[in-house]
Amino acid sequence: MPNKVRQMLLMDDHVCPWWLCFTFDNPLRRLIHNPEKMLRDWIAPGQTVIDVGCGMGYFTLPMARLVGATGHVIAVDLQAQMLDRLQRRAERAGLQARIQPHRCQPNTLALSEPADFILTFWMVHEVPNQAAFLQEVRNLLKPTAPYLLVEPKLHVAAADFRKTVETAQAVGLRPIAQPKVGLSRAVLVEPAM
Ligand SMILES: C[S@@+](CC[C@H](N)C(=O)[O-])C[C@H]1O[C@@H](n2cnc3c(N)ncnc32)[C@H](O)[C@@H]1O
Repeated sequence: MPNKVRQMLLMDDHVCPWWLCFTFDNPLRRLIHNPEKMLRDWIAPGQTVIDVGCGMGYFTLPMARLVGATGHVIAVDLQAQMLDRLQRRAERAGLQARIQPHRCQPNTLALSEPADFILTFWMVHEVPNQAAFLQEVRNLLKPTAPYLLVEPKLHVAAADFRKTVETAQAVGLRPIAQPKVGLSRAVLVEPAM
């Protein structure tokens, strides 16, 4: 395939192209992934939470409802097309005031605001340097703030997920639960003291 066409289809070998998001970001997905049910134990009104690799906002919008009018969600993605669609959805839902879209760089999140909760849903396998990425996530968490890391079973074998969890532990993140998430491997971690 010529390079230019390849670049149009895939930003690089790892990153999910924006148009492919339509295949899994749709109303039927709620049958498998119910965001409110999945996240309500870890997100409370007034909090600052981060959805890293937010895509078109499947989780961002429910997170904005959970933090309420006094909280906010930082929605981070590499791709402008994802953030554009997220913003349109947020406007339609009347939630734009609670959502701060943030376009990051491939090698850094470029964020400094401490978070009460962080989500990475089906994105860490797209990150080439997981140790550096997880260290950045670790640095953004408040002392007892949870981070939910969810990976797709289809793309991430059990052994690879174990390596990711080991990498998380190596940068100072302690596993505290293994929530059940449809079609996924998941771990909840928090900063180790
Ligand atoms: C498979 S999609 C998942 C989107 C969303 N979390 C969901 O579950 O619907 C992965 C997303 O992660 C983003 N992504 C990949 N690498 C990233 C990075 N290093 N920093 C931020 N976002 C990244 C991609 O652009 C894409 O929007």
